[in-house]
Amino acid sequence: MDRKALEALLNDMSLEEKVMQLVQIPGSEYEAGAEITGIERGQVKDSVKRLAGSTLGIWGSKRLKKIQEKYIMEHPHHIPLMFMLDVIHGHKTVLPCPLGQGATFDPDAVKKGAEMQAREAATDGVHATFSPMADLCRDARWGRIMESTGEDKLLNSRMASAMVEGYQGDDLKDSSHVAACVKHFAAYGAAEGGRDYNNTELSEHTLREYYLRAYGEAIKKNPVMVMTSFNSINGIPATGNIFLMKKILREEFGFKGVLISDWGAVGEMINHGFAEDQRDAAYKAMLAGVDIDMCSGCYSTCLEELVNTGVVSEKMLDEAVLRVLDMKNDLGLFEDPYRGLDIDAGSIITDESRMLARKAVAASLVLLENRGKTLPLRNEKNAFIGPYANTKRLQSSWAFSGNDENTVTVWEAAMEAYELEYIKVAVGCTMLDQDTVTARGIRHVDHWQEENSKLLEEAVQAAEWADTVILCLGEDSTQSGEATSKASIKLPEIQLKLLGEIKKTGKRIVTLVFTGRPLELNEVRELSDALMICWLPGTEGGHGVVDVLTGKVSPSGRLPVSFPYTVGQEPLHYDMYPTGRPKPENGPSAFTSRYLDCENGALYPFGYGLSYTSFEYTDLKLSAQSMSASETITASVTVRNTGDIKGCETVQLYIRDVTGSRVRPIRELAGFKKISLEPGMEEEVSFVINEEMLRFWTAEEKWESEAGKFRVWICNNSCSGQPLEFQLV
Ligand code: BGC
Repeated sequence: MDRKALEALLNDMSLEEKVMQLVQIPGSEYEAGAEITGIERGQVKDSVKRLAGSTLGIWGSKRLKKIQEKYIMEHPHHIPLMFMLDVIHGHKTVLPCPLGQGATFDPDAVKKGAEMQAREAATDGVHATFSPMADLCRDARWGRIMESTGEDKLLNSRMASAMVEGYQGDDLKDSSHVAACVKHFAAYGAAEGGRDYNNTELSEHTLREYYLRAYGEAIKKNPVMVMTSFNSINGIPATGNIFLMKKILREEFGFKGVLISDWGAVGEMINHGFAEDQRDAAYKAMLAGVDIDMCSGCYSTCLEELVNTGVVSEKMLDEAVLRVLDMKNDLGLFEDPYRGLDIDAGSIITDESRMLARKAVAASLVLLENRGKTLPLRNEKNAFIGPYANTKRLQSSWAFSGNDENTVTVWEAAMEAYELEYIKVAVGCTMLDQDTVTARGIRHVDHWQEENSKLLEEAVQAAEWADTVILCLGEDSTQSGEATSKASIKLPEIQLKLLGEIKKTGKRIVTLVFTGRPLELNEVRELSDALMICWLPGTEGGHGVVDVLTGKVSPSGRLPVSFPYTVGQEPLHYDMYPTGRPKPENGPSAFTSRYLDCENGALYPFGYGLSYTSFEYTDLKLSAQSMSASETITASVTVRNTGDIKGCETVQLYIRDVTGSRVRPIRELAGFKKISLEPGMEEEVSFVINEEMLRFWTAEEKWESEAGKFRVWICNNSCSGQPLEFQLV
């Protein structure tokens, strides 16, 4: 439809029809049995159902076709309904959770993954996904850290941008793509105390320099939507925050698309104490420029009256409605309201998507310890023990359109890779301690004690038979994701007990940790010979993990978040501001900035990860000692594979602005490159440093660089390497 026709359509719509384009209701309202939690089915009036512009949380071409047919028939202008869904890291084929994807440090692969997700979702009738989540996360207590790509603004920017490109492709009308939604704007990840939905207090420079960066970069890729966040920022809920939504999002970032609230967030402004009632909440959300009200009911109940009484202007309403109609038009819905709803097509898992997922899993694994070259596994007797050894629950809580039945477990993959007489499996213990509270309620197991005694006995027997035990431990998948904040980030006691008992058998232990958040692993690493983070790896989890265990693939994942010694260090991140009393590396540290009972830094820092081979960095050099704003400097290093097998290294560039009108972080990731080297081979890796990379939000509140001294590291994690210096003149 051309612009003129679209405007004519708008002019012909009644006030009620216009308002309803801005209303989103749960898919469960259209169909019994639709998988969505939250408000109860049947709460939405039929008149709203008939006109609501969009719905969420349902999929499947056959189901959606029926809904669309009825909806279009009943709609006065036959405007199609839009279907949205949280396709967060997979639709049918589930990839590693976003935190695991962050660990790949490979935006090209992440883009291919997003293309695959879009293809699967679009052929299942989905028009838009609520992804990527570009929230910066520094707090392991916050369960939604699993949905992010980590603590670093550059890594998050690259990953979120890659996802937008992958989901949307070059042409949204092409029915193998879906509209992307950058969320949750803004700074949702900075929730105080790591408690979900909690307030955030951020100075403007911290907000701009760290928290807003990834959203801003992803928005440059033209996502169709942006979602507001639940939290308040400096006292103002994001959903009614004019500074954030008008000044930053629309004016500065130039976002022209649809702004959607998070689920119920418009109405939650009443709980925040920012809006008096539903009417006030609807008004404040409109003022901030929120186009679609996701499921709070405030727009459907109050917006018509607000326009009728002139409190909200019709012009303001029309602008919002036009953005929603534009979105439908860009998706080609006016020409083909049944796109992706071809009953025979449906979405299926292909060999190709399985292979892509398998590779993604292998690339996401982060090897933290490998004493005595325990890995790759030798051709000896291997016992796979633990609650993650043979479970199909390898998807996260945000993969609800994926089916566990399609998942390959670690044990299933091990059976394909090894002769059966050389492997054994045992569950070892329950996943959780008795009566643990999870996102889905309290987990109670009848006869828990007896059950665990029996499981332990079997596990010890298996360990005694084996030469090496592969201990598959972790957090349950319902312990990360939305509303899963935790004050303790240890493995469940029962799993630690299993580890302790297996240790007593004296066998080599490879501990695999499946998790959606950083955990406290000090005790675990002491008892393990090898330790590897497997995240929540998804459909091809077993295959990807076993590919690395066997040595078919050398591990190359790097931590996208710091793993602390203890939860008391949270929030923890490598790119801190310096203090006036830095703790010296050696020598007395009294009256310096430190903990009395713990290191300051991480147990395993951002960017850290081992390989089966080793790499040596030599000949770090800069092409010049100084540069002007119009010049560049090339920083380079020679990386050599000094081991005896092929491996992949993530070479990282860090920069520090030594003095500024505001204090600058002690290091910031400024670039990264993944290279693959045969044994004995070397490669020169170089990065071009330009003035733009040196800019920050100065004391004068401008994005500018300042002349002075800069330090540069090229190294293998955020705490390693020796710097060189140059001057910006
Ligand atoms: C979450 C969003 C999600 C939305 C729709 C909310 O509870 O915060 O991330 O996209 O639900 O499912």
